Amino acid sequence: MSMKKRLVAMSLAAAFAGGAWAADPVKIGLVLPMSGPFAAYGKQIENGVKLYLATKGDTFAGRKVELIVKDDSPGTSGDVSKRLAQELVVKDKVDILAGFGLTPSAFAVAPLATEAKKPMVVMNAATSSVTTKSPYIVRASMTLPQNSAPIATWAAKNKIKNVFTLVADYGPGHDAEGQFKKTFTAAGGQIVGEVRSPVKNPDFAPFLQKIKDTKPDAVFIFLPPGAETIAFMKGFKERGLAEAGIRLISTGDLPDEDILEAIGDSALGLVTSFHYSEAHKSPENKAYTEAYYKAYPKDRPNFMSIGGYDGMHLIAEVLKKTGGNTDAEKFVEAAKGMKWTSPRGVVSIDPATRDIVQTIYIRKVERVAGKLQNVEFDSIPDLKDPGKQ
Ligand code: PHB
Repeated sequence: MSMKKRLVAMSLAAAFAGGAWAADPVKIGLVLPMSGPFAAYGKQIENGVKLYLATKGDTFAGRKVELIVKDDSPGTSGDVSKRLAQELVVKDKVDILAGFGLTPSAFAVAPLATEAKKPMVVMNAATSSVTTKSPYIVRASMTLPQNSAPIATWAAKNKIKNVFTLVADYGPGHDAEGQFKKTFTAAGGQIVGEVRSPVKNPDFAPFLQKIKDTKPDAVFIFLPPGAETIAFMKGFKERGLAEAGIRLISTGDLPDEDILEAIGDSALGLVTSFHYSEAHKSPENKAYTEAYYKAYPKDRPNFMSIGGYDGMHLIAEVLKKTGGNTDAEKFVEAAKGMKWTSPRGVVSIDPATRDIVQTIYIRKVERVAGKLQNVEFDSIPDLKDPGKQ
């Protein structure tokens, strides 16, 4: 054998020993809103993905991860998301589709994942039915029913007898409204009013007036965090709803760390249920938040960034299990039942639904070391998505 042939043979053997062609990167196409009203979602999710690669290494089963980010701003137009995902599959030849800040984006890309046989890892989009739209979807974030049921139970146990619901008029809002109502009324509570606000440019003034006139014990709200949430909180304060004795309850999307300081002191005392808080006390979260601030000093770790971080963890672990094989069927089989300790707590992938099972915490907004934080005081472990039961 010539020297050259021997070298080739040796490097081939080395590549196979690693379980895959060492030179063949694994391409992940991230579909995320990187500009527009939900640009923070894309930034935070990308931060989480990149932090995972920076702290845990970027090569799994011999395959180096290559990220290709497509901005599907505003994230609410399915057509844009679908066209970009098509480009990722056809032109960039990605192995895995991932990201998905908002539900319309995940809904629009799901049929493409099925058709092109690509694994699709959802890092935020949280409408319960998302995972039913393709057999190749695995979700690393949460669902709205999963986060709405615990706060409904908490409210019923804490002298809140009647509630007015206000939700954004699309998938996650409908899920939040439906699950809250189901759990709260089953616990003896009453729904005294329901409104759905437009996702784009809502005017909260008439809704706030109606709520004030109805005088419920509390308002339950779901809005995708952003400028509109801040506007709602401002209106709630200015119109004196708190002074009228009306409490505010919600899922943790409302006091998201990303907008919490912008909401300001009017968030103090707000009780919510959620799967992630920057203030979660665990060694894993301490290491995560410290690394996060080191890498992104201007951003706060939040539920979006943990969705990206854990979504990347899931991909890495699947690659290790399959020896670098990204075939959609094999990917999903390897993901089913996977369990790990995330900075948010112990999580697993439900083999029946490919959705995440996790602890949901009840938290209260407090000032901790000068910063508004969601301080956890109760928890519901191993909660599956109630939206699928
Ligand atoms: C969604 O569109 O699925 C969505 C967006 C923001 C959230 C939760 C869900 O906070």
